[in-house]
Amino acid sequence: MSPGVVVDHLVVSRRAHPILHGVSLRVAPGELVGLLGPSGSGKSTLMRTLVGVQAFQSGRVLVDDLPVGSPALRDRIGYVAQSPASYRDLTVEENVRYFAAMLGVEARDASRVIDVVDLNAHRHDLVSSLSGGEINRVSLAVALLGAPRLLVLDEPTVGLDPVLRERLWTVFGHLRDQGLAVVVSSHVMDEAARCDRLVLLREGRVIFEGGPDLLLTTTNSSTYDNAFVALVRSAP
Ligand SMILES: Nc1ncnc2c1ncn2[C@@H]1O[C@H](COP(=O)(O)OP(=O)(O)OP(=O)(O)O)[C@@H](O)[C@H]1O
Ligand SMILES: [Mg+2]
Repeated sequence: MSPGVVVDHLVVSRRAHPILHGVSLRVAPGELVGLLGPSGSGKSTLMRTLVGVQAFQSGRVLVDDLPVGSPALRDRIGYVAQSPASYRDLTVEENVRYFAAMLGVEARDASRVIDVVDLNAHRHDLVSSLSGGEINRVSLAVALLGAPRLLVLDEPTVGLDPVLRERLWTVFGHLRDQGLAVVVSSHVMDEAARCDRLVLLREGRVIFEGGPDLLLTTTNSSTYDNAFVALVRSAP
């Protein structure tokens, strides 16, 4: 039994173009892994594979020992896509309750997840009246419905101010502390410091894997931005 995520030699092509060239990845329960890489490097493709919505050509992708796409994994994985969708003409609570019904999760779970993402004060507000950060948190609440063991969050903090980003990372940290495996992609390199481990992709290949400190020492850099640029440039 290997709980968490096991990806071995994953190859994904889209429209005959190779996107991921043999990516391997492990994410343990209680681990927060940051997925970083330039635009187009394959982060969203890898994340879609983890949640079972992306076909792949070869390799092995397991969550809690089950192949992704298995019906039993449906309520064990929470996913926030890069362009998350919620209904703007429904309130926060109506949105979350709607998705709860779709997932077959008890309606009262909606209150719990709204609380976790700190949207209680906006529970009865229309999504159309919320700020960008609040709308992101509605999607995160939906991803937390049920009892997911794996959370896959594709750029959940993009476009948010530093205070809101900090708040969201605190939420991710709490979820990790509760034993969830959490995978977060980001363009903001300073967010690397909040992760237990980093996986850097470039052109569909893993070019670095390790803790944030190792990233700085390996590249002899003082900032994550510099480390990122150094690695992306130096990889063969
Ligand atoms: N529907 C598609 N059909 C064919 N190729 C695609 C499709 N979607 C993405 N790609 C290609 O796959 C590659 C990886 O895209 P992906 O969205 O996984 O990158 P990313 O790292 O998430 O980028 P970003 O940081 O901009 O979100 C890119 O070259 C992209 O052009
Ligand atoms: Mg992406």
